[in-house]
Amino acid sequence: MMNIEAKPGRAPHAPAQDMAARAHIDAETYERMYRESITDCDGFWGEQGKRLDWIKPFEAVKNTDFTLGKVSIEWFRDGTLNVAQNCIDRHLATRAEQTAIIWEPDDPADPAKHITYRDLHREVSRLANVLESLGVSRGDRVVIYLPMIPEAAYAMLACARIGAIHSVVFAGFSPDALGARINGCDAKLVITADEAPRGGRKTALKTNTDQALLHCNEGVKCLMVRRTGAQTTWVEGRDFDYGALMAEAEDHSEPAEMNAEDPLFILYTSGSTGQPKGVVHSSGGYLVYAAMTHQITFDYHDGDVFWCSADVGWVTGHSYIVYGPLANGATTVMFEGVPTWPDASRFWEVCEKHKVNQFYTAPTAIRALMGHGATPVEKHDLSALRLLGTVGEPINPEAWNWYNEVVGKGRCPIVDTWWQTETGGHLITPLPGATALKPGSATKPFFGVQPVVLDPQSGAVIEETEAEGVLAIADSWPGQMRTIWGDHERFEQTYFSQYPGYYFSGDGCRRDADGDYWITGRVDDVINVSGHRMGTAEVESALVAHAKVAEAAVVGYPHEIKGQGIYCYVTLMNGVEPSEELRKELRQWVRQEIGPIASPDLIQWAPGLPKTRSGKIMRRILRKIAENDYGSLGDTSTLADPSVVDELIDNRMNRG
Ligand code: WTA
Repeated sequence: MMNIEAKPGRAPHAPAQDMAARAHIDAETYERMYRESITDCDGFWGEQGKRLDWIKPFEAVKNTDFTLGKVSIEWFRDGTLNVAQNCIDRHLATRAEQTAIIWEPDDPADPAKHITYRDLHREVSRLANVLESLGVSRGDRVVIYLPMIPEAAYAMLACARIGAIHSVVFAGFSPDALGARINGCDAKLVITADEAPRGGRKTALKTNTDQALLHCNEGVKCLMVRRTGAQTTWVEGRDFDYGALMAEAEDHSEPAEMNAEDPLFILYTSGSTGQPKGVVHSSGGYLVYAAMTHQITFDYHDGDVFWCSADVGWVTGHSYIVYGPLANGATTVMFEGVPTWPDASRFWEVCEKHKVNQFYTAPTAIRALMGHGATPVEKHDLSALRLLGTVGEPINPEAWNWYNEVVGKGRCPIVDTWWQTETGGHLITPLPGATALKPGSATKPFFGVQPVVLDPQSGAVIEETEAEGVLAIADSWPGQMRTIWGDHERFEQTYFSQYPGYYFSGDGCRRDADGDYWITGRVDDVINVSGHRMGTAEVESALVAHAKVAEAAVVGYPHEIKGQGIYCYVTLMNGVEPSEELRKELRQWVRQEIGPIASPDLIQWAPGLPKTRSGKIMRRILRKIAENDYGSLGDTSTLADPSVVDELIDNRMNRG
């Protein structure tokens, strides 16, 4: 492995010459603009706010307070705008015939679709009218549970057009998870499809929706897109056919005038405790931030084809498939499939086919593809690629180097973007042409972002350049989440109480002598499985809901492809015999309760769990055993019964 501690400006990963010549931002400009963004925050963001078309221009820029008890985040608060107008209508004068969305279906034998900005305008306007005809109005919530099809983007934008708030639920979630999200925001309507094809398999989304709706308010309606044409059940008066209603809908829909602070969407994400929380994003600040980061981080230029391979069910899809690219008038690729089906060359085939200029994916996908070697990549002409990006988890230097050499042929900068559902857009990331790259480091803060490294125990800011601790942010940026839906108190407690005065990210980090940040992973009980964020508490509560389970503790452990795997310690009810069958049953149970992404990798039968005398499970010990690193368990003298630890070590499931 190469030495990853590159010195500033030193080859091999200094900005490539050609990139530096063309990039929006060079190293000097970064320094100057970053300084400005901090010293004259209102001036800086006031200028950036002009990226958007405002109905009523804002005068106020930043009104934010991180003080516990009165946390409040507002940007551009007296301005009004419409997000869909900014993503569609304003481009019509200059780029009506330009492709807005390239849709690449799951099956490579099916044709791709090219949706122009004019098409997008028509589809979104019609759908806006359909939503209104179904009784959805400004401020109402709409749940979107769709495959990766253009209708998912239409649905998001149609909500934005009428001022309804969308909540996209990843199509891999179970009926229970869907139902909880419909109820959590009291949605009036669910938009779904008959089936979701993915990797040659199909998920019965309508069937899932039917099951979810059994546990929801009777008034919730369902609008169904026909993706595969499969037979589905139909509840008259509740279910509506997307195609039929769209065919009759008017083409004209006036975009609603929304306040900058009106919520654009809710997106549920996992935390360290309790059930997932509904992260609320704003209209104005969010869009300014998504558009700016999309343009600058990816060095997007007019005419480029941009591909973010995430799912719209996650924040990455919101900001970098839909809102950021479309606000910039870009051509954005939407891919329904998976990287390894029909074979491991699919990503590269799609890159070649659509002449992708910027490609953005997750380290887990890179690691999975790396296992197939260079041949699937080399079969394809990737000469259009100019930049590569990663997101979702730390990228190991081996994967970074493979991405750089095999995919990027050493000529595409890699932007390792650190951010979160809560942050709306990139917070720490290299800028192509400006930042010297280091494999595994997210490098420097984006404009306006003030990261601090805190001592985990004392909470004190570590002032030295070289530092290791928890990562927090000292002040607000426009893309920051505004609240947790229906629970502002939980918002304050989750992000602002542990280290008062700071936004606490939940991640640990190291800052090196050059001031570059290296994210070391979560410091809370959140795990990151294949780039999907999951609360161990959610998996535990799914397990203990099973009649044969008395108690469960879930931790992450290092997994070669997924980054982290899910390791479950399960104590069975008295008299229940452990068996391979039961393991399968529990695995299936969790898939059903949450979704396939939460499927346990390892289940260890635990007659006892290590607990303190006050009954608290000592997760630190469980983590060590799961990591197969039981030589350094630390102090176990406070355990109520130290012997359970030896039993767990003897029967550990990970011996790799
Ligand atoms: C992790 C995804 C290291 C981190 C946009 C964060 C990363 C969580 C990176 C958020 C990165 C994201 N390097 N770790 N470049 N990007 N993470 O909310 O632990 O799904 O807190 O948002 O992913 O996950 P989320």
